[in-house]
Amino acid sequence: MGDPVAEYTSRIQRQSLREERSQCSKNMTNINQRLQEIFGDAIQAAYPDLESPPLSVTPNQQAKFGDYQCNSAMAMAQMMKSRGLKVSPREIAERIVQNIPDNEMIQKTEIAGPGFINVHLKKPFVSKLLTNLLINGVQPPPLQSRKRVVVDFSSPNIAKEMHVGHLRSTIIGDSMCRLFEFLGYDVLRLNHVGDWGTQFGMLIAHLQDKFPNYLTVSPPIGDLQAFYKESKKRFDEDEEFKKKAYQCVVRLQSKEPEFIKAWNLICDVSRMEFQKIYDCLDIKIIERGESYYQDRMTDVVKEFEERGLVQLDEGRKIVFPPGQSIPLTVVKSDGGYTYDTSDLAALKQRLFGEKADIIIYVTDSGQAGHFQVIFAAGQMIGWYDPKVTRVEHAGFGVVLGEDKKKFKTRSGDTVRLMDLLDEGLRRSMDKLKEKERDKVLTPDELTKAQRSVAFGCIKYADLSHNRINDYVFSFDKMLDDRGNTAAYLLYAYTRIRSITRLANIDEEALRRAAETTQVLLDHEKEWKLGKCILRFPEILRKILEDLLLHTLCDYLYELATTFTEFYDSCYCVEKDRQTGEVVKVNMWRMLLCEATAAVMAKGFDILGLTPVQRM
Ligand code: ARG
Repeated sequence: MGDPVAEYTSRIQRQSLREERSQCSKNMTNINQRLQEIFGDAIQAAYPDLESPPLSVTPNQQAKFGDYQCNSAMAMAQMMKSRGLKVSPREIAERIVQNIPDNEMIQKTEIAGPGFINVHLKKPFVSKLLTNLLINGVQPPPLQSRKRVVVDFSSPNIAKEMHVGHLRSTIIGDSMCRLFEFLGYDVLRLNHVGDWGTQFGMLIAHLQDKFPNYLTVSPPIGDLQAFYKESKKRFDEDEEFKKKAYQCVVRLQSKEPEFIKAWNLICDVSRMEFQKIYDCLDIKIIERGESYYQDRMTDVVKEFEERGLVQLDEGRKIVFPPGQSIPLTVVKSDGGYTYDTSDLAALKQRLFGEKADIIIYVTDSGQAGHFQVIFAAGQMIGWYDPKVTRVEHAGFGVVLGEDKKKFKTRSGDTVRLMDLLDEGLRRSMDKLKEKERDKVLTPDELTKAQRSVAFGCIKYADLSHNRINDYVFSFDKMLDDRGNTAAYLLYAYTRIRSITRLANIDEEALRRAAETTQVLLDHEKEWKLGKCILRFPEILRKILEDLLLHTLCDYLYELATTFTEFYDSCYCVEKDRQTGEVVKVNMWRMLLCEATAAVMAKGFDILGLTPVQRM
């Protein structure tokens, strides 16, 4: 027998989920999840004594095997065998099928091979979901409870170069936020900038020497990188200067107003540089850097000490969570705090101050170890239980050049992000001119298309690769309008949009049609497209679990190619061959075009791409 309490709660949960669903019929239905529920119930009814039986329902790749497939019978047979029960998977499959109640989704099931259960969906059901989508727009699947999410992303360091690693974090983090926001979560986007290190000592010392009247006249630091290099050089070569730099750190940390002012001036220069990038890429983010946690760091160190969790190690104070191979340094031998200390303080503030249910850190995988120890320390001191609160590092690989080596300019320097974005703009304009789009589009449309393609391609190239892997940055590949690229998808989208223009149908007419015209799915390609459109919620659901956004890119690409198949074999608008006049509009197919475009647009939105109506 299973655990009766667990069974009861799971039944209640399922029930409330169902109630919720009937309340918000506007939301998109996750077909896969509904099927899982139906099969879950059938398995439970067929084998009430089997504890947590395996449940697996997946879409079918080959149409001849039906639309979805349940593969549970094989795994269940294994499970029973290990308990000394010999039952064939086919027999199990049969019993499951017998226990499927009548429902609005499933037309029929077939048992195939060793015990696969193929599911054929009811056409009227799929058609009804498409109508819902057209009437209500692309709505997120229902949310059980509104959760608070903190996403820590971008997070460059003041006065240092914002490099391609930060670009990846910015693009991936923004897209994760957009996904959570669409699904109805309460998202806090945090820029954990490095604004409180010992480097400020030398920067301030240099500022005071170079611009002695900085308190009254805003210092014209044009190039902060150069300024940083100058001060670093002096720091390394000049003992006097070095001493002064150390004094500056102390005076800054004791918050002397002049030093705070100098610090702010330097931060402002960086901020303006970062903001240029964020504006180009349409990134919204709240700056809350390391300095924000200053006083909290003192408290956190005290808390660890009081709990007896701090050890002394050659003058340093360290925290060594069990099972970890490296400790955290919470206080350096000179009494200063570290990156570790600030991340402990940030974690605590996010858990208790922000009351976050989910916290995600987006940085390169090189920092995986750091976060692992931070999270272990947070659990050790009892700040959170990982079964209740999801705290996760979403790492990513490094950016490589086309030579598969670390991404560098030809002269071997690190690539400045603004230069990179400018090059993207230049190349996308070249592409548009090559296609003679400048002769068709208005200047305003042309600029919009240029920006949409340039920034869209940079983002998409990043997002369409599994973030765990390193990825090769190549303008040629990302601007190619064939294959799984933003250029291809953005073109595909405008093409679908142009079909409606071609047919001379306005939005109002489409809306009316959505309410009165049934979406027919008799042609094989209509059926395939209809099902593909409706897989959107199941894709998002998966990404919510693994935070791998390339699944969305793969899906959008599949949707675009499935659309092309449909469009190639199903007339939407019929024209007179001689006059070119529109003689017939197949309205249900126009609705399929519209639904495809709506899902694509929502997908673009989550990826941070800005589609244009004409390009
Ligand atoms: N500033 C750091 C860097 O450039 C990234 C900070 C990430 N966030 C954090 N909470 N540690 O590597």
